[in-house]
Amino acid sequence: MHDFIFKNNELHCEAVKVSDVAEQIGTPFYLYSHHSLVDHFTKIKKAFAPVDPIICFAMKANGNMAVVKTLLNEGAGLDIVSKGELEKALTLGADPKKIVFASVGKTAEEISQAIRAGILFLNVESVPELEEINRISQKLNQKARVALRINPDVEAPTHSFIKTGTLEKKFGIDLRSARRLFKSRSRFPFVTINGLHIHIGSQITESQPFIRAMKKVIEFLQALRKDNIRLEYLDMGGGMGIIYKDEKPQTAQEFANRILPYLEQTQLKIVMEPGRFIVGNAGIFVTKVLYIKDNGFKKFVIVDGGMNDLIRPSLYHAYHEIVPVKKTKSPSMKADIVGPVCESGDFFAKDRRIPRVKKDDLLAVMSAGAYGYVMASNYNMRPRVPEVLVKGDRFEVVKERETFADLIRGERIPEFLK
Ligand code: LLP
Repeated sequence: MHDFIFKNNELHCEAVKVSDVAEQIGTPFYLYSHHSLVDHFTKIKKAFAPVDPIICFAMKANGNMAVVKTLLNEGAGLDIVSKGELEKALTLGADPKKIVFASVGKTAEEISQAIRAGILFLNVESVPELEEINRISQKLNQKARVALRINPDVEAPTHSFIKTGTLEKKFGIDLRSARRLFKSRSRFPFVTINGLHIHIGSQITESQPFIRAMKKVIEFLQALRKDNIRLEYLDMGGGMGIIYKDEKPQTAQEFANRILPYLEQTQLKIVMEPGRFIVGNAGIFVTKVLYIKDNGFKKFVIVDGGMNDLIRPSLYHAYHEIVPVKKTKSPSMKADIVGPVCESGDFFAKDRRIPRVKKDDLLAVMSAGAYGYVMASNYNMRPRVPEVLVKGDRFEVVKERETFADLIRGERIPEFLK
């Protein structure tokens, strides 16, 4: 469920007409619904209430401060992946005790900032990283809390680029090494290893892969118990899929019903890291038709948004529904919906059947709240677009459109060229 709905043939976000926003701020832009954000977060919270998890929103999915603040106000923690996200989280007043930090390549600076901030734990992805954390903790004279990210070697049906749970992938520590690591944990006296972390991939619409991973976790915990090792936390990662097209993803409640028995069996405190489930369908990307082009072979709808604004179709061939913001009775047509960027990979849809549109019509690219703006770039010297948050009948620009000054900030002509 989300709050982008047609009323009187006009797409609304909650009580705001999408076309009104376009009129005021121009196109393209991202538009988020406050109510959808809260609703999706609450669905997870309610469904998993029996284990009372710490729900750490994966900031990488959407790091807009107003979006993150909305979720912090609901009691969310945060899953971060960089110093930038840590600084943003702390600026927003997030409780460090509800921040977890994963990344296969944390720098010394990131590690020491995270330790000093007193976050809940760092999710460690390799033995050398653990050695580095131990060294830094000793230097800071402050014990670091860590969870080991294990790689359960479980296949998940999703795009190869966003699968993470098999040994082909760079993520996590294989089970055998992880067990050895626990046994030799006295080698890391400045680190408290008090949790396990898994994350098997993203946009996973069924519970089976999660269950297979949980079974491996439980087996692993049993082995640890034999070694007399007890932990406090299980961070089960993110990955819950959403509807982009015709997927039939489990609801949060269905997912919880399947997975809760396993979580309960661990007797550990549960941390979750949902990203897409919360923001994916809480946001759209709005773009305007510039030209319609027919080369005798096919039709192209050329819009003012491009792959630099929303790269998911280009990068993963991801499907996003695209709808005209004003419903008309016009017959449909088949076209590629493409941006102005100078490469053929710049498309939002290929051979898509959509209602016939004309110059200046607005199109909404749906389900764009997750991994949309955060993956945008300035390719082709294009400014990043604004982000807008709607609450009820109000809307506010929560990130301004970039200007030319933003685009050239930091660039310099060296003396020897003058
Ligand atoms: N935890 C960890 C350790 C992760 O790496 C991720 C996502 C999440 C949680 C959140 O996963 P989610 O609940 O959002 O599935 N750019 C891609 C997705 C990359 C996912 C990266 N990791 C896309 O547009 O589909």
